[in-house]
Amino acid sequence: MKVTAVLLAAGQGTRMKSNLPKVLHPLAGKPMLWHSLKAINQASTEKPVVVVGHGAEQVKEFVGESAISVIQEPQLGTGHAAMQAEPVLKGNADYVIITYADMPLLRGETFQQLVETQKKNSGPISMLTVIAEDPRGFGRIVRKEDGTVAAIVEEYVATAEQKAIKELNVGAYCFSADWLWDALARVQKNPRKGEYYLTDTIELAVKDGLPVQALIHDDLLETIGINTRVHLAEAEAVVRQRINRDLMLAGVTMIDPASTYIEAGVTVGQDTVVMPNTYIQGETTIGEGCEIGPNTHIRNSRIGNRCKVFMSVMEGARLEDDVDMGPFARLRKGAHLMDHVHMGNFGEVKDSTLRPGVKMGHFSYIGNATVGANTNIGAGTITCNYDGQKKHPTEIGEDVFIGSDSMLVAPLKIGDRSRTGAGAVVTKDVPEDTLVVGMPARAIRKLEKRDSDRVGHPS
Ligand code: UD1
Ligand code: CA
Repeated sequence: MKVTAVLLAAGQGTRMKSNLPKVLHPLAGKPMLWHSLKAINQASTEKPVVVVGHGAEQVKEFVGESAISVIQEPQLGTGHAAMQAEPVLKGNADYVIITYADMPLLRGETFQQLVETQKKNSGPISMLTVIAEDPRGFGRIVRKEDGTVAAIVEEYVATAEQKAIKELNVGAYCFSADWLWDALARVQKNPRKGEYYLTDTIELAVKDGLPVQALIHDDLLETIGINTRVHLAEAEAVVRQRINRDLMLAGVTMIDPASTYIEAGVTVGQDTVVMPNTYIQGETTIGEGCEIGPNTHIRNSRIGNRCKVFMSVMEGARLEDDVDMGPFARLRKGAHLMDHVHMGNFGEVKDSTLRPGVKMGHFSYIGNATVGANTNIGAGTITCNYDGQKKHPTEIGEDVFIGSDSMLVAPLKIGDRSRTGAGAVVTKDVPEDTLVVGMPARAIRKLEKRDSDRVGHPS
């Protein structure tokens, strides 16, 4: 049995007040559409179809090869949108899931239930409903005396009596394909708005004397639809809760999940502790037994096991095992800290490798450099890697001792076991086992009383 899905994503999303098409607004770092596609893929057997229209180019670009994009132009309503999938699906599917791309919290399991219900249904439609106090502008489910579904009535045409109905149309349906395409062709233009409504297919089935199955869903949080940025924030909180809950159930400790912001797709290993006010984003993986945060921002980075990242920032960086960094350390693109590196406060590393056991305790900038194993970078060391036009490399050997406040003017090589004195300005390569010093302070005159009075009393 071929099950395919159609996601309607052509609407304008006026109420978002945005230049970005609604379905590309991110939730936990990924566009709404990503979440919807992930869910429907769990219930279908074929490549899904996405109906695009408003902002078509941008939406198509995101969809890429993950689905078949079809254009709806002009946008004449949800029924008209679904019709656009007919040329690619007719004869290629037994069941068609249709849902709206602004319902990104619906889960894969829920679509699976819907498909299972439809497989047992002698009629052509199974649909999802929810009972809620707040109608949120959703269509109302009108039932007959015998309890079977009669129709969906959109809010703006509903009578006062219908408006009071608490059972709402969620916007997830599974149709038998052979009935669907003919039915869509029979949907009449709605006289009030000049649109063709997908919801009118329900009444058509009833008129055909065929049963419609309505599955009443009990998880209200799944049915948050996004029409405004207020809804977007509500949905964000739900997605965050889900991600954090899944991680906690997989063995991650969170001191305060409500202030732990982990994006979809991030992985975190067992026995890692994530502290409050921590953001973990993009393509990031974190190993086991780490301590991350508080007040930490990590993006597109790889972290090994047993690392500590304390009040720090990293982007595009990599930590191997047992690395200890922070507070206030910053790793930028291409920073690679190997096993047991220690990086203390106010350091910055970019496009550089710090080999195992390197210590860089305080106030340093290392850029375009490699630093050999067990080398010590003294406080205030700077790799002067940029001459105003180009970046130049610095190569520091193993067991080197860089004295505090050394300026390492690149391109530069410093051999194994060498040392630089405090304040050295190193402009030439240093061979192995060599001590270099620069500009030691020299006495210029004897201090007088006035000078020492001034100490501690700057004017
Ligand atoms: C729709 C349903 C309503 C349901 C609610 C649940 C209809 C007529 N109404 O209302 O019963 O309770 O969703 O979320 O179906 N779209 C297109 N092309 C169009 C129009 C819309 O692709 O021409 C897409 C939109 O991008 C959107 C989805 O269809 O993703 C739903 O459209 P929207 O205008 O948000 O419908 P609602 O008023 O929310
Ligand atoms: Ca909507």
